[in-house]
Amino acid sequence: MTENREHWGSRFGFILAAAGSAIGLGNIWKFPHMAGQHGGAAFTLVYLICIIVVGLPILLAEFAIGRRTQLNPVGAFKALSGNSQWKWVGLLGLGAAFVILSFYSVVGGWTLKYTYLALTGAFSTFSSENNVAAQVFNNFISDPIQPIFWHVLFMGLCILIINKGVKGGIERWSKILMPLLLVLLLVLVVRGVTLEGAGEGLRFLFAPKWGDLDAEGVILALGHSFFTISLGMGTMITYGSYLRRDTDLLRAALSVIVLDTVIALLAGVAIFTAVFALGQDPAEGPGLIFVVLPTLFPLMPGGAVFGVLFFFLLFVAALTSAISILEVVTAYFIDEKGWSRSRATVTFGTIIAAVGVFASLSLGDFNVLAPLGDLTFFDMLDGLSSKYLLPIGGLLTAIFVMKRWGLTNFMEELQAGSAWFKLPQRLVWGFFLVAGLVVAYILFDEVLGILV
Ligand code: PFF
Repeated sequence: MTENREHWGSRFGFILAAAGSAIGLGNIWKFPHMAGQHGGAAFTLVYLICIIVVGLPILLAEFAIGRRTQLNPVGAFKALSGNSQWKWVGLLGLGAAFVILSFYSVVGGWTLKYTYLALTGAFSTFSSENNVAAQVFNNFISDPIQPIFWHVLFMGLCILIINKGVKGGIERWSKILMPLLLVLLLVLVVRGVTLEGAGEGLRFLFAPKWGDLDAEGVILALGHSFFTISLGMGTMITYGSYLRRDTDLLRAALSVIVLDTVIALLAGVAIFTAVFALGQDPAEGPGLIFVVLPTLFPLMPGGAVFGVLFFFLLFVAALTSAISILEVVTAYFIDEKGWSRSRATVTFGTIIAAVGVFASLSLGDFNVLAPLGDLTFFDMLDGLSSKYLLPIGGLLTAIFVMKRWGLTNFMEELQAGSAWFKLPQRLVWGFFLVAGLVVAYILFDEVLGILV
């Protein structure tokens, strides 16, 4: 099986692909608006702690499970547990892939539309006084046709890339798009910090005011640490399964985590320096990117160009993450069901796109969940994945390593390819225990919040 399996062309290519999966809308869209609403720097610090305490052990576990088995998540859990019920953890991940990609791709479509708007100079008519930007955004996302057109286009691009395979599709495009993303972001950071009054934005992001951090912020930071590193649904198991045994997993995991965090912070710098310099509210929420920023670009020197760069950057980040989600489903159907890559990609890309259509429509007049109350189908998919599916998947993965696969086997896999990884087993056990307890706490808190 290993001989036939596709592999990454180089370690660097693998790290760029894994970082491409991690760096996405979560970093550039979600992180800044969450930090903006929940205490700025205080939120950032809690987020960083969660990434190290929870993110790192689970990312290592996923890489190791994937590389050891050379299989998709369902096959991997089956293989390491002697064909037991643990395969359900893999199946849960597969379910999460459907759920996440269907709404993620809708937002991916928005990034394309906004790149187009920026290119055509439409932002110059936006102003915050009479709320033009908010109206344009709300009219667009609730329209029954327009956002679906962009969503389908976005999903089509994902299908095209995944259809080309691991090396020729994912790796090739990650090698082109990720450096581009970094350059675009650095240009935007320089623009942001050279605006007059930018210092206030930097203080907001980096100088903690603990009084502003609420309990909800802590829980959100925990949940977001899964989403942002693409954990808990087998994406990193899948990417790890295309590795050969000579890769240093610890170094790779640290690189991915550092890149993901640095990009989230840089996005925060680019955004908050502009928001504060131009006197806007950082706690605007999800509209921070699609409503506040488009009103700011026309006010800054060179803003027309920076607007295009920003939304194109957001599109690139979304695309390299979305392909990793589609690859989870594709790998499962190739490995377990013997399908061809193109059959799996086209079939499931189309089904996920169809679910996404309902997610998009739910922001307008057709919400399939309407009989149940105010919750939109779109928000349900988002909440279900980041609040429940990913943390549950992550928790079960940590328990799997400790209880079923065993730390000795895990450490043995980790040490293959790494000459410097000699941590005592007890310490690693402690890491997993803390990660598991922290995640169990988030889930408990969520469930309690619903019941009480
Ligand atoms: N990590 C991506 C982001 O931050 O936008 C989202 C994501 C991708 C989540 C892949 C889960 C996943 F499997």
